[in-house]
Amino acid sequence: MDISTRTSHIAYRLQENVEMSEREDGVAVISPFFQITIAPLSQSLRRILLLLADTTCSARQINTAIREAHEENMLTTFYRYLSSLLRHQMLFIYAGSEDRSTPLATLIPISSYVQHQWINVRAEQAYQMSRFAYIRRAEDGMSYLESPLAHARIRLEHPVTTQVIYHLGKAITPCELIQAIPEEEKDNLISVLALLVMGNFAAPTTPTGRLHEEEDETLQQWDFHDLLFHSRSRTGRHNNPLGGTYRFLRQLPPQPAIKQAPWPATISLPRPDRERMRSEDPGLEAVMEARASLRDYGTEPITLAQLAEFLYRVARVKEVYDDDDSGEFTVRPFPGSGASYEMEFYLTIDRCEGLQPGFYWYDPLQHALALIQESNKDTARLLYEAYQAMGAPAQPQVLITLAARFQRVSWKYQSIAYALILKNVGVIYATMYLVATAMDLAPCALGVGDSDHFTKLSGTNYLQETSVGEFALGSKPTPTSEIEEIR
Ligand SMILES: Cc1cc2nc3c(=O)[nH]c(=O)nc-3n(C[C@H](O)[C@H](O)[C@H](O)COP(=O)(O)O)c2cc1C
Repeated sequence: MDISTRTSHIAYRLQENVEMSEREDGVAVISPFFQITIAPLSQSLRRILLLLADTTCSARQINTAIREAHEENMLTTFYRYLSSLLRHQMLFIYAGSEDRSTPLATLIPISSYVQHQWINVRAEQAYQMSRFAYIRRAEDGMSYLESPLAHARIRLEHPVTTQVIYHLGKAITPCELIQAIPEEEKDNLISVLALLVMGNFAAPTTPTGRLHEEEDETLQQWDFHDLLFHSRSRTGRHNNPLGGTYRFLRQLPPQPAIKQAPWPATISLPRPDRERMRSEDPGLEAVMEARASLRDYGTEPITLAQLAEFLYRVARVKEVYDDDDSGEFTVRPFPGSGASYEMEFYLTIDRCEGLQPGFYWYDPLQHALALIQESNKDTARLLYEAYQAMGAPAQPQVLITLAARFQRVSWKYQSIAYALILKNVGVIYATMYLVATAMDLAPCALGVGDSDHFTKLSGTNYLQETSVGEFALGSKPTPTSEIEEIR
């Protein structure tokens, strides 16, 4: 059995939305996104190029046509043109023999950094799938192989492609692969393997029997989901719509600027005297220098007046305004992407003078609290998990849970909604640190929290509103005489 990558089994064709036309200065290739001119070209090369607009051409057919035109010296140049078409997302590459009516797999470029390289599969070399590759069904009902390490995706056109991917879960040589695949498809699987390697979804193993990505110290330290999230929420290696696309405008109503909470906010909070704050606050330089994460608390707990001032300075709504098409917006003390202000502040109170322990929602417009649940085993668990996350001597007097109303952001932003939400968490953390420091309170941001457990307490839908950040707050520990002495 021939194990080499056969030129009759790798083919090219222009994408459906690309048009080619002959001009005096060469061949113009036009897609909805790019326009390039390929020039200068001999008559025969032009003819071969134009053929790609109407029909699938295998590498063998391209090579034969170039040879028949006695233009062997143009072979490399021609494939360079194909690489350019690929980089401009104008070309498909297919795996499957010429005599098949449909290919087994189609490589579709999704970024201008895609590499076009001929892969010669080697018989005794083992290959394996990358741990970053995954298959997903898209809106067109087709399954695609994707990876944050790839600049292309592969459309799975035939079950045998999935079988090849299945067997490549373990390192396997082409000879072993051939044994594992049904007789009638053996002829084609090398081209599938070549396409997988070309797209960076599979790779040859190193002499130690592992993939390069497993030996690479940098890649070892990337979790699959982190790299995928990073690659898909930045521009560069995908062609998904990204940014403020307003894809649901006039289709779905935007989430309201202020949460329509089911709980009455009956606990009105005192509004702090801004003149007093202005005169008593330390300057920004002093606050920045003093800011630190404090995980221990004073014997006297934080007071309701302090908590009220903290929430007023960090989270209140300062103003509400209308923006014609996109609905209502608010002005808050901290900056927020697109002024969406999707974040809700929930408080789990363990110890606060003037406020009974329990689970509360902060109404940022009324500057008031709503009691959702009195203290119980679920609030205790939330506090205990925060205590564990801090490795602290005491559990927080107040745990602030930030919960994002996801659709408030994703109604407007595509591809980056969750990334923006996490950035907003960072902004709010910094604001809370600075306000707490100015108020001489003990702040500490937390990196983990149980979002499912949060929904159990809040009764919110995990997909609509759930926790994305936690922050511990309390009174500052009273300095001991020993510490005073050192100072
Ligand atoms: C996003 C973020 C997550 C954090 N997560 C935790 C945490 O889970 N537990 C903890 O004790 N401290 C946590 N911290 C606090 C950091 O450990 C702390 O800011 C860092 O050690 C620097 O110390 P400093 O804040 O006292 O300057 C977090 C801080 C940030 C900004």
